[in-house]
Amino acid sequence: MKGAKHFDSRMTPLSPFAQGIDNSAIKDEPMFFNSDLAFAYAQGGLITRSFIDALDSEWRDQPAVFDSRVHMLMPGWYPAIPGFHHDDVPRPAIPVGQHFVTAGQPDYDAPRYHSRHILGLVNADVAPTDFAIGNCTMPEIADGDLIYRAWHAEVERLLAAGEMERVAAPDRMLVHFDWQAFHTGVPAVSSGWRWFGRVSFNTERTDKITNEIRRQVQVYLEFPMEGW
Ligand SMILES: [Fe+2]
Repeated sequence: MKGAKHFDSRMTPLSPFAQGIDNSAIKDEPMFFNSDLAFAYAQGGLITRSFIDALDSEWRDQPAVFDSRVHMLMPGWYPAIPGFHHDDVPRPAIPVGQHFVTAGQPDYDAPRYHSRHILGLVNADVAPTDFAIGNCTMPEIADGDLIYRAWHAEVERLLAAGEMERVAAPDRMLVHFDWQAFHTGVPAVSSGWRWFGRVSFNTERTDKITNEIRRQVQVYLEFPMEGW
């Protein structure tokens, strides 16, 4: 990486969804991976369709890729890898035989695209997604070192110093953010179901739609015996 990087890290609540849909409906939702919106709408349950219905047409009419997850959580369990990071900053495309695979650390020097995302959570209070809000400067990282390991610590330092603000994504609300928005999963604070959906734009992923329905999901643990 060449030099420090500056980011305008923010999120914007757009519009409510899944209003009036009970948390008990979460467990009935299929989980989508690498799906387009038409497939998710046709195969999804009430919550998935409500999420897509709440998208403005300016979003619905452009290439998009949709992912969703359903978790049954207990206190201390993480529905996502913890640590402040960005979503979908392109990683180098490396030729392997006839194909390219993306591998290695995110390319912040000359990214091939600038992704944008809209996420939604149902029963967010069980385990919100936290954003770090504010303009920030992240230190240069030596090639080969883990970028987010160092930047996570810097975001935490800026939050503690009051130079960034920690804001949780609200329940049942579409939230827009882009590739500059630092965010992290947090451990569940209570037991319950949680639905996560995210639609992404301006990404190469929209060229590789596979319309997968997932039937398993994992959780991440910091202290495995906590919450039992
Ligand atoms: Fe993320």
